[in-house]
Amino acid sequence: MRRVWWGIGLVALVGGGLWLTGSRRVIAGAVGAQAVRQDWATYGGGVEGERYSGLTQINAANVHQLEVAWTFDPHEEGGLQTNPLIVGRTLYGYTPSQKVIALDGATGKVVWTFDPGGVGRQPARGLSYWSDGKSNILFAGALSNLYALDPATGKVISSFGDGGRIDLRKGLTEGDVSKEFAALTTPGVLFKDMIIIGFRAPETKPALHGDIRAFDVHTGALRWTFHTIPHPGEYGYETWPKGAWKVTGSANNWAGMVLDEKRGMLFVPTGSAVTDFYGDDRIGNDLFANTLLALDANTGKRIWHFQAVHHDIWDRDFPSPPVLLTVQRNGKAVDAVAQTTKHGFVFLFERATGKPLFPIEERPFPGSNVPGEKTSATQPIPSAPAPYARQLLTAEMLTTRTPEAHALAVEEFSKIRSEGQFVPFSVDKQTVVFPGFDGGAEWGGPAVDPRSGVIYINSNDIAWTGGLTENKAGGGVGSTVYQNQCAACHGADRKGSPGAFPSLVSVDQRFSDAAITEVVHNGRGRMPSFPRVTDARLEALLNYLKTGNDPAAGNRAAGARDSSSKREAESGVAPAVMAKYRFTGYRKFLDPDGYPAIVPPWGTLNAIDLNTGKYLWKIPLGEYPELAAKGMKNTGSENYGGPIVTAGGVVIISATIFDRKIRAFDSRTGNLLWEASLPYAGNATPATYMIDGKQYVVIATSGARDRKGPQGAAYVAFALP
Ligand code: HEC
Repeated sequence: MRRVWWGIGLVALVGGGLWLTGSRRVIAGAVGAQAVRQDWATYGGGVEGERYSGLTQINAANVHQLEVAWTFDPHEEGGLQTNPLIVGRTLYGYTPSQKVIALDGATGKVVWTFDPGGVGRQPARGLSYWSDGKSNILFAGALSNLYALDPATGKVISSFGDGGRIDLRKGLTEGDVSKEFAALTTPGVLFKDMIIIGFRAPETKPALHGDIRAFDVHTGALRWTFHTIPHPGEYGYETWPKGAWKVTGSANNWAGMVLDEKRGMLFVPTGSAVTDFYGDDRIGNDLFANTLLALDANTGKRIWHFQAVHHDIWDRDFPSPPVLLTVQRNGKAVDAVAQTTKHGFVFLFERATGKPLFPIEERPFPGSNVPGEKTSATQPIPSAPAPYARQLLTAEMLTTRTPEAHALAVEEFSKIRSEGQFVPFSVDKQTVVFPGFDGGAEWGGPAVDPRSGVIYINSNDIAWTGGLTENKAGGGVGSTVYQNQCAACHGADRKGSPGAFPSLVSVDQRFSDAAITEVVHNGRGRMPSFPRVTDARLEALLNYLKTGNDPAAGNRAAGARDSSSKREAESGVAPAVMAKYRFTGYRKFLDPDGYPAIVPPWGTLNAIDLNTGKYLWKIPLGEYPELAAKGMKNTGSENYGGPIVTAGGVVIISATIFDRKIRAFDSRTGNLLWEASLPYAGNATPATYMIDGKQYVVIATSGARDRKGPQGAAYVAFALP
């Protein structure tokens, strides 16, 4: 019934009883080094999310000798965020177009490829491997589907769901599912004979409710549902205005979840409700958005919950799965759950009860002056550990990289509001979000060494800004669709935000109409799909993208010269979507040369002892090669993808965008022990495993994040000579 230890190289002496202790420390201590898992059979290394391996062949003394063992090139461009699985000898991963691949883990040779249709461009962070010792199932998400595959052949298991897959949108709407967007970007967890998952949902309306669901691994039948947006009569319903549950959406789990198998407890972090930045129709705390949920994995019933941001209007989703660990308190071992955030905090709770292990205080924050908006009077702040990213941008922190950059940063800064966390956005004025919309912590997740209780967190440390503007009536269909559905990311001026959201100015010179349509309908990278933008709406949008205004033809095509309600109907933006205010776009606070307009570090790696809440070390992570060449070294840089830690005493992380490196640090001191250049940035979390007595470290690399760098993708595996 429960998942077994599948690794072929794994010694059979690990009985169920030991597994049920739920602690690898006990396993290792009780039966010795032989019992160490050789594989990486679960996303994040284990159901507890530790990103830890007990392997020691590669260790602090020899890690500097690592060499490339093999490289696999899928001959595709795009993003690759996959933390692959290694079960037995086989590595399971994705290509940028979301083909599922099985490679020989020792050579990188292709075993099989499964192509779910070739159009997927969503992040695909991992897979799930179920086994009862007799039959094995590999679960993979692609676009809106969850597929069940035979891991030996890559063929779909047709008895699962609808001919081998389930459409995640089914059951979440009474309407036409093809008009909705849901994608499994991070795998869920396996518990007994269930696969439990969330999904990625839009940031703008309309959006499906982010229900957490358990499906039967054999049939695909729904086993239970937890409503992250409570229905009338359910706990938390009163934290929304009456009836709001009908018009809101998301509050979804996109970052992944973890499982305490012994207790049968599931830990699920959620993101914000739509619309992200203006919540006039969801006044109240909005449970269970931005919440760490502890659920009964058998039934989906709530055990406890903690909401980190009340009535979120800053897009402060929980960005990473939590991690389970055991800490020492007053000489006693306490099972805990740690959760990192975009705004720079680690929250630590007693696992069984949700009692904070460092006191959390509800502190007052300023209210909103935007008509219709009402923010929460307080937000929860942990007394420890100290934040791992800077949280208040002051004039002293503005860049000094060059006198020109400094002068411009000073001028910009004088126009924007900077007062730290939870400052509500204003109309027609920018407000600093620091750390930025991308954290702080991100989807790579933290690593924990279960032997020491130390958590390793990589963090972005740059400032972004955000603001609101009035959604004025009178625009045409093209601009209405654009401003309501696209501008949050690509900017009201279509200029995007370098490194995060591409500019769409002159996009028609780079993309055909058909290619733009494909991106709009299928999404790409962190862009969701917009299946409702079709026909006249699409035509008007394409026109608008080409010209930056709504030519009469575009308007006429959509019959949009009439009243604004007609315009809303025609534009496919339901009246509820046409909020009075809309977001002006995610903007990075950059200097004129495109570097962060603040002093470094721009990205860090942190080691925090969760027994005490004290930092063991904190170092900048990454650099810009061209700045380093001029002597501006070790600045840290934006980084996506997490670390792993091993019993060999090393923390291994890639993540940095611009220097395209993978590095190993001494887990006790933070000293750099090894680094190597990669073909593309390793914006993914590595995995480590052993085959035929040889330990490997593998990382997925891709060029999507750095448009000026080389484009392509590759898996690169390292081993000792
Ligand atoms: C949540 C943020 C987000 C929203 C909303 C969004 N996009 Fe995007 N878009 C992106 C990102 C990120 C990329 C780059 C994806 C990649 O290559 O990995 C992108 C890429 C594109 C591209 C390809 C351009 C290029 O240079 O790669 C087009 C065209 C595009 N978006 C159009 C739109 C349109 C039209 C809308 C509204 C209907 C929209 N986007 C809404 C984030 C967004």
